[in-house]
Amino acid sequence: MELNKRHIVLGVTGGIAAYKAAELVRELQRAGATVQVVMTRAATHFVTPVTFQALSARPVFVDQWDDRIGNNMAHIELSRSADAILIAPASADFIGKLANGLCDDLLGTLCVARECPLLVAPAMNRQMWSNPAVERNVAQLRQDGVTLLGPDSGDQACGEIGLGRMLEPPAIVEELVAFFAPRLLAGRRVVVTAGPTYEAIDPVRGITNRSSGKMGFAVARACRHAGAEVHLVAGPTALPTPAGVTRSDVQSAREMCDAALGACAPGCDIFIAVAAVADWQVTNASARKLKKDEIGSTPELAFAENPDILQTVAGLPNPPYCVGFAAESEDLARNGESKRRRKGVPLLVANIGHETFGLDDNELLLIDEQGTKPLGRASKDELARLLVAEIAGRIGQPVAEDAK
Ligand code: CTP
Repeated sequence: MELNKRHIVLGVTGGIAAYKAAELVRELQRAGATVQVVMTRAATHFVTPVTFQALSARPVFVDQWDDRIGNNMAHIELSRSADAILIAPASADFIGKLANGLCDDLLGTLCVARECPLLVAPAMNRQMWSNPAVERNVAQLRQDGVTLLGPDSGDQACGEIGLGRMLEPPAIVEELVAFFAPRLLAGRRVVVTAGPTYEAIDPVRGITNRSSGKMGFAVARACRHAGAEVHLVAGPTALPTPAGVTRSDVQSAREMCDAALGACAPGCDIFIAVAAVADWQVTNASARKLKKDEIGSTPELAFAENPDILQTVAGLPNPPYCVGFAAESEDLARNGESKRRRKGVPLLVANIGHETFGLDDNELLLIDEQGTKPLGRASKDELARLLVAEIAGRIGQPVAEDAK
């Protein structure tokens, strides 16, 4: 519930993407926010206020002269308790209105009279988006400190393809979560490994493990929310890439090692090894599918040890701040500490209990030079956020470019 206790005024303006604003209300609520919908008159031609009223369980406001608010100050009262005003979809017309501070309807007045941040998710035809007047207005909004979310590129309601469609509701919520998150890793470059690896036996068979990748993806996402530039090196998993994160997909431990070293090479500040890397690779893997009748008996597999990616990165001449993860079945603190020393890393995160594969929850114990610190049991997203704060606290402020 990353938007817990956040109150959002959702401004819906006139465009076909208004139908997606209904889903957006739901997504905001799922993330923990309360939502007050305010519509422009044009938006009511696409979706009725009744829809938003039912979804948000609050009265919807359209009219500047609405007398449902006691002191008749809807244009001020509605935004006073808000943490942000989000306009989605924002039509070209409404963006023009905002850029000029016009107050000829309730939503426009609300934006001009606000004390909270304003976020705008444009939605329009690609020609409208590239029109010089719209470009001018958008530039003006940026200059005025308004946060632009999107637009996205792709199929448009008019049948054309291009830039201008509204970001999907989950992506807008993701942007909002990032907007509110403390920028603890702003200016930092982070590389995260995640998921299992896959060691081939032949073209159709291989050895892998039960890692789902959820913890590593949550860590990448939390780093991104904290303002870092994030490169995620992922073993085979079907998880979607967190918004704003660069992703390299790999199969084997060797490929993961090459990709991680490549991603770390130019100025990485933090390396977080969450992946469950196979310890061994099959050295006599077959280029053709092994056939029972051709082998005649059970196959004999030969193994060689895989490179230790974390140890390799930690051993680089100018290494990033390295964080390892470990699943230990017994004597967590002692085994964890000896693993931390063996790998040469300042911080090791131990999973308490090894049956966390695929679950959305986890329990973690931090182990560093000072000793241990439990992070408790929580969702992987929540733990990832706590871990980011711990890492940020340990590495301190980034060195300003001109001070380097
Ligand atoms: N790790 C790695 N490369 C490997 C093996 C592990 O980068 N070849 C990283 C993991 O991503 C994790 C940490 O090292 O961050 C610890 O992994 P773990 O599997 O617990 O340790 P191992 O070194 O494999 O030791 P063992 O399995 O014997 O406990």
